Amino acid sequence: MTFTGIKPCVKCIAVLAIMAGIGGTLFLYSGWYPMGADDPHNRLTYWVLETLRERSIARASADIEVPDDLASPQRLLAGGADYNDMCAGCHLKPGRESSDFTLGLYPSPPNLTQLHHKEDNADTRARRRFWIIKHGIKASGMPAWAPGHDDERIWNMVAFLEQLPELSSEQFQILAARGENDSGHHSR
Ligand code: HEC
Repeated sequence: MTFTGIKPCVKCIAVLAIMAGIGGTLFLYSGWYPMGADDPHNRLTYWVLETLRERSIARASADIEVPDDLASPQRLLAGGADYNDMCAGCHLKPGRESSDFTLGLYPSPPNLTQLHHKEDNADTRARRRFWIIKHGIKASGMPAWAPGHDDERIWNMVAFLEQLPELSSEQFQILAARGENDSGHHSR
C-alpha cells in the first residue's frame, strides 16, 4: 500500500472534523438543546453524563481510607439525626415514597431507603458515598456537605446509609432523634 492513496482521505477526515466542529458550535448556540428539568436527556447525553460522573467519582474516591469502626452503633446513632435533618427531604425515609424534590429534580435524588448502589463491594460503596456527600455532584441537586461538616460527621452518615434500607419507620424515628446535648449545629 502506498501513501498516495491515503493522502486524499486524510484531507477528507480533516474536512469532516472541521464540519463537525462547526456543526457542534452552531448547535450549541442555536438554543435547541432542551434544558428544562421536566424534559429528560436523550439516551446518548444520559450515557455520557453518567459515565463522566461514575468514572470521575471512582477515580477521585479510590484512595479514601474507610474507618475500621464504620459499622459501630455509635456511628449509626450519630448519623441518623443528620440524615433526617439534611438528607431525608430529597432522599426519603421509611414510609415516604416521594417528595417535591424526588418529583421535580432532574436527575432525581435516588431513594436511599431502598437501594444499595450497584457497587456490591461494601468498601467501594462507602468510599463512593463519602466522596459524594463531602463534595456533592456538579449540575445536579446534590450539595457538597464539607462546608460546616467534618469528615467524622460525614462517615457517620455513610454508616447510617448502610443500615437505612433495613430500618422500619419506628426504628428510623428512634435513630433520627437528637440527644439533649446535640443541637445539630454546624462545626464551622
Ligand atoms: C436538594 C436535594 C438533595 C439533598 C438535600 C441531598 N441530596 Fe444527595 N443527591 C441528590 C441528587 C439529585 C443526587 C443524584 C445526583 C446524580 O445522579 O448526578 C444525589 C446523590 C446522592 C448520593 C449518590 C447515590 C447513588 O448511589 O448514586 C448519595 C450517597 C447522596 N446523595 C447522599 C446524600 C446525603 C447523605 C445527604 C444529606 C447530607 C444528601 N444526599 C442530601 C440530591 C440531594
